[in-house]
Amino acid sequence: MRQPSEFDDRPWQRVDPGRVAGVDAVPTMLAAEEQKLYFWLTSEWMQGRGDVVDVGCFAGGSTARLAAGHAQAGHGGKVHAYDRFTAAAGVKRRQLYQKGIAPFDGPDIFPLAQSLLAPWADRIDFHRGNIEDLGWPGGPIEVLTLDASKKTDLTDRMTADFFPSLIPGRSVIVQQDFLHWSQPWIAAQMVGFGDHFEPVGFAPNDTVIFLCRKPITAEALSAARIDNLSDADLLDAVSQTRQTLAPFSVAHRLDRMEKGIRDNPGVRIAWQMKWRGDKC
Ligand SMILES: C[S@@+](CC[C@H](N)C(=O)[O-])C[C@H]1O[C@@H](n2cnc3c(N)ncnc32)[C@H](O)[C@@H]1O
Repeated sequence: MRQPSEFDDRPWQRVDPGRVAGVDAVPTMLAAEEQKLYFWLTSEWMQGRGDVVDVGCFAGGSTARLAAGHAQAGHGGKVHAYDRFTAAAGVKRRQLYQKGIAPFDGPDIFPLAQSLLAPWADRIDFHRGNIEDLGWPGGPIEVLTLDASKKTDLTDRMTADFFPSLIPGRSVIVQQDFLHWSQPWIAAQMVGFGDHFEPVGFAPNDTVIFLCRKPITAEALSAARIDNLSDADLLDAVSQTRQTLAPFSVAHRLDRMEKGIRDNPGVRIAWQMKWRGDKC
């Protein structure tokens, strides 16, 4: 029997927009409700028992929402921003210029991210490079936001680096791409972790929040590896996810995930997954 959770009525929806006004200048790929969730997690929910880690910061949008909440709550500790901080011309055009950033030369977006995040610089640590090579220096993580699980092999490596530092009974992971049809391996990973995590909340468009229930051991990591899974394994995991996510009424999203697996046999890289059929 699922216990009621403090995430059930999506309390981040009630965040006063005036409190987050300062982050509007920082462009983000997050949907509006996801942005509120990120701010609420650090301003209202977290207790300051560990650091905040943002895996996939891009130009700073998600990190800004986390850092603004962290600052308003007066937490010590740090917000860690991981990314390689590069962007191709098309991404710059769609995600930066169309959102108010002045055009600039080259793929390097690190100076831009630093400047956009300057209001919270005292609490942000930048980790620049390939996330799977950078690793985590150690220390408890209370909020872990994940937006870079685009390839199964790299996701396994990132998971092994960060998840053992979660605090059982306290830490949350925010799987930002969980419900996106192009990354079905995230659902499979969470099925593999079994009762180490409990799904506690959902924020449209794609985010599912999990509370860490048990220490993440080497055995748990091994059971949750995704790079070795077959398409049949992925389909089975989506089927199991239907039960665990039933309270969030997301069956139609899982239908799309199943179609994505069937239409893309053996593909394990998000940007190589092709949607066939109606516009997605
Ligand atoms: C969807 S974007 C993140 C969007 C961001 N959270 C926001 O609020 O706008 C994913 C980011 O992950 C980064 N990324 C993906 N895989 C990576 C890897 N293996 N190493 C470093 N960065 C990676 C990309 O550079 C990209 O900026």
